[in-house]
Amino acid sequence: MTADKPVPRGERGRRRPFSVEGRLAEHVDRLAEEHPPIPVDSADYTMVRPELLAEQFGPVLTYMSRVELEVERNVLELNLLLPDPPPVDQHFYADVWLPQEVHHGLLLDRLQQLAGLPESEPNLDKIAFNFKVLGALGRFGAVEDVSRMLYYLTGVATEQSAILAYNKLHQGLLDLGEKAVASTIVAPIRRQEPGHFAYYKIAAQGLWSELVPWQKWLVRTLRRYTFEPVGAYTKKQWAQFGDVMTHLGITTKGNEVELDRYAQQIGRFELELLYAHREGLRVPTYVIDSLHRAARLADRRRRK
Ligand SMILES: [Fe+2]
Ligand SMILES: [Fe+2]
Repeated sequence: MTADKPVPRGERGRRRPFSVEGRLAEHVDRLAEEHPPIPVDSADYTMVRPELLAEQFGPVLTYMSRVELEVERNVLELNLLLPDPPPVDQHFYADVWLPQEVHHGLLLDRLQQLAGLPESEPNLDKIAFNFKVLGALGRFGAVEDVSRMLYYLTGVATEQSAILAYNKLHQGLLDLGEKAVASTIVAPIRRQEPGHFAYYKIAAQGLWSELVPWQKWLVRTLRRYTFEPVGAYTKKQWAQFGDVMTHLGITTKGNEVELDRYAQQIGRFELELLYAHREGLRVPTYVIDSLHRAARLADRRRRK
């Protein structure tokens, strides 16, 4: 009988079904309560063979710590991109998601430095021009909804990539005999990622059902042209992401099965949501193309 509940309206009259709003609010409260930011000093950084750990997983730690720390800039971008966000989104990304992710970055950064690697160099404040353009356009409510949809979809794909990466990293560290760091750093971090994934998923499903056809078309089109692996904004970073996939065993020479599976897992949600009308598609082609490009760039860089 939830239909009897009033439908809240945003300042510009945007509708959001109460059930979605309510579910998101409950979800955020639960995340805040059950998953406080992990204290950096709570971890056991004891390593059996730090040099070997750095050799095997250095590129992964460097990449992931940067991406996690760059959430600070992501929030600045969101403030530009979504001038009038639903309060629950703002509460989620500013009060819950941001501190959790920053701590993931700090833990990984401390670990990599103790393993003899350089300190992380995140870009915390330089915002790309296209965000400013989209932010200006976002003053039109209908466009802001498109930006918001892209934000949720990016969130789903990003968090899914993180879950898969941390699963692989956790297993890889255990295989190396690095039990302390696997169980006190990577395991607690990966426990927090599914909650983020769930938030974006619920939000995306809710908003998609409200968009009109031209907005859906614009979302599909922009997604196709702007999809990028998490944290890969420059050609160099695309290649570094390719390295991450190599070090996590997602890409191995002559075997593309794992890469395809990875792409499918990352793209599954938006495939089902955005392309429900096109059966038979396994993965949005732009997802798989982007991962292949990252792998190619990493390969080219290695040969130089
Ligand atoms: Fe994270
Ligand atoms: Fe996350």
